Amino acid sequence: MTSAPPAPAVPQEKSVFIQRLFTTIAPRYDWFNRLASLNLDQRWRRRAVAASELTPGMRVLDVCTGSGDLALMCAAAQTSGRGIVVGLDFNDAMLHTASSKLRGAETAVWWIRGDAQRLPFASQSFDRLFIGFSTRNLSDVSAGVREMLRVLKAGGRLVILETGRPSNPVVRAAYFAALFTVARVVGLLVTGRLWPFTYLARSVKGFLRPDQMVALLTASGARAWYQPLSWGIASLYVADKPA
Ligand SMILES: C[S@@+](CC[C@H](N)C(=O)[O-])C[C@H]1O[C@@H](n2cnc3c(N)ncnc32)[C@H](O)[C@@H]1O
Repeated sequence: MTSAPPAPAVPQEKSVFIQRLFTTIAPRYDWFNRLASLNLDQRWRRRAVAASELTPGMRVLDVCTGSGDLALMCAAAQTSGRGIVVGLDFNDAMLHTASSKLRGAETAVWWIRGDAQRLPFASQSFDRLFIGFSTRNLSDVSAGVREMLRVLKAGGRLVILETGRPSNPVVRAAYFAALFTVARVVGLLVTGRLWPFTYLARSVKGFLRPDQMVALLTASGARAWYQPLSWGIASLYVADKPA
């Protein structure tokens, strides 16, 4: 078992830390998610795709696509085959996991290596944008949100799925306790490493509250709303860019 210091606050160093973390856990990332969330993670992704009101032929970008599940769900929903789905991530090991999964979706997914904070696309390129469980990992959340809104077409929709902060204090205490105990043990058993899951627990607990996230989206120029999922242990944010 190896240990690692807490995630650094300096943006460049945080990015290196996050790369190292996902390279370490990439082959077992899905296993951890399914076990630690009791398969709720896939239900939350389906809720995110439904909230996007995706229609055939749309251009879709899944930022921080990781092992690609959100992008693949979008591709499966693009029944006409005319749409475009792009899954972007800066980690090669995660992109490798994603690209080895594609099977039978009518709309192809384009897997692209790139940084969420410097997206390699012209402004107003996409009808729908997604980011799942990774706004926490960005070095600068405000800059990341502004960059995502830049590449979104006017009238388009950004859907953010994130870990949550239950409003009920008992549920919240139980959730945070489970993150620091059960989730870390599951992570250790599945990957042989503890430190990535210590970071996970700390980053979830230290992240923005839902009202702060909505305020950030609104300050970035979007019309935003929040929906708690599964008693608030996950958060769904929908942000519309004015037409
Ligand atoms: C927790 S995983 C989320 C994966 C996926 N969205 C999901 O729903 O499971 C976070 C992913 O974000 C990627 N990531 C973190 N910061 C990034 C950045 N600045 N640019 C691109 N990808 C980034 C990581 O490499 C990792 O694959």
